[in-house]
Amino acid sequence: MSAPLPQGNELLREIERLRKELDAVVLAHYYQDPDIQDLADFVGDSLQLSQQAARTKAKIIAFCGVHFMAETAKILNPDKQVLLPDLDAGCSLADRCPADQFGKWLEQYPDHKVISYINCSAGVKALSDVICTSSNAEKIVNSFPRSQKIVFAPDRHLGAWVEKKTGRELVKWPGFCIVHEQFTERQLSKLKVRHPEAKLIAHPECEASVLAMADYVGSTRGLLEYVKSSPARSFIVATEVGILHLMAKARPDAELIPAPPSSGCNCSICPYMRLNSLEKLYLCLRDRKPEITLSEDLRLRALRPVQRMLELSA
Ligand code: 13P
Ligand code: SF4
Repeated sequence: MSAPLPQGNELLREIERLRKELDAVVLAHYYQDPDIQDLADFVGDSLQLSQQAARTKAKIIAFCGVHFMAETAKILNPDKQVLLPDLDAGCSLADRCPADQFGKWLEQYPDHKVISYINCSAGVKALSDVICTSSNAEKIVNSFPRSQKIVFAPDRHLGAWVEKKTGRELVKWPGFCIVHEQFTERQLSKLKVRHPEAKLIAHPECEASVLAMADYVGSTRGLLEYVKSSPARSFIVATEVGILHLMAKARPDAELIPAPPSSGCNCSICPYMRLNSLEKLYLCLRDRKPEITLSEDLRLRALRPVQRMLELSA
C-alpha cells in the first residue's frame, strides 16, 4: 500500500524540500488556486510566464498553469524538465484549433502572415510567423506594415478587439474561450445598475459587446495593475476569478465583484486551470512526472515564432 500523502503544513514543507532538492522553480498563472499562487516562485500572465521560463536557471520547471503554457516553457528549454501537475489541464482555445485542420485552413491564405495567440498547441505555433499574448497582440499586429494581410488565431474575440484597436482587418479562426464567452452584456448591465460606482474591467477574450461596456480591457496582468493603481474603490472583474486573489491582497480596501457568467452564479472558473492542486504539484515533483515532451523538429519550428514574440516584447 502506498504511503498517505502529506497534508496541510506538512504538504507545504514537502513541496519546499523537493523544490530545493531538485533545483525546481514553480511558475503559476493568476488563475491557479490561491494556495498554489501563494507558494509559487513567480505568478504572472502568459507573457510574463514565458519570459520567466526563458530566463530561469533552475533545472526543473514545475508549471502550474495549462498545457500550452508548460509546452511554451519546454519549447524555450529543451534541456530542462518541464512538469505539469495535471496533463489534462488543456484550454478550449488550444483544443479547438487542431494543427492539421489549421494547416489546411491556412492554405486559403498563402499571402497572409500568421499571428497566433499563445493559447495554442506547439503544432499551431509551428505554422505561425509570430506568437502573441493578450498583453502584446496590438503591438505584434502593428509590427507588420499596414499593407500586410494577417491571419489571427485561434481567439476570434481577441482578434476582433485587436481589429478595433488597430483599425486593421484580420482573418480570424473562429475559436473562443469557454470561460470568457459566458459573460454577457445583459448580466453585466444589471450588475452595473446595482454598482453604478464600480469600474468594469474585462479580459479581451470576452465578447465585443462586453468589451464595449468596459472601463478597461487588458490581460490578467493589465487588470491587476489597473486595480492596484486606480483611485476607484469598486471593480467588476470580467475574467476568471483566480485573479481576485492578488487583487484583494493589493487592494484590501476595494470591493471586488466577480462578473457573473450567463448562468448567474459566481462561478467563472476555468475548469482546466483548476485541475492543478497542491497535492498534484507535490506528486509531480516527487515523481518527476507528468512531463512535457516534444520532438526536436517540432520544438525548433515552434521556437522561431515564440522567440520573435519575445524579441518584439522586450
Ligand atoms: P493572460 O495572458 O491574460 O494571462 O491570459 C491567459 C488566459 O488563458 C486567459 O484566459
Ligand atoms: Fe483557456 Fe479560457 Fe481557461 Fe484561459 S480561461 S486557459 S483561455 S479555457
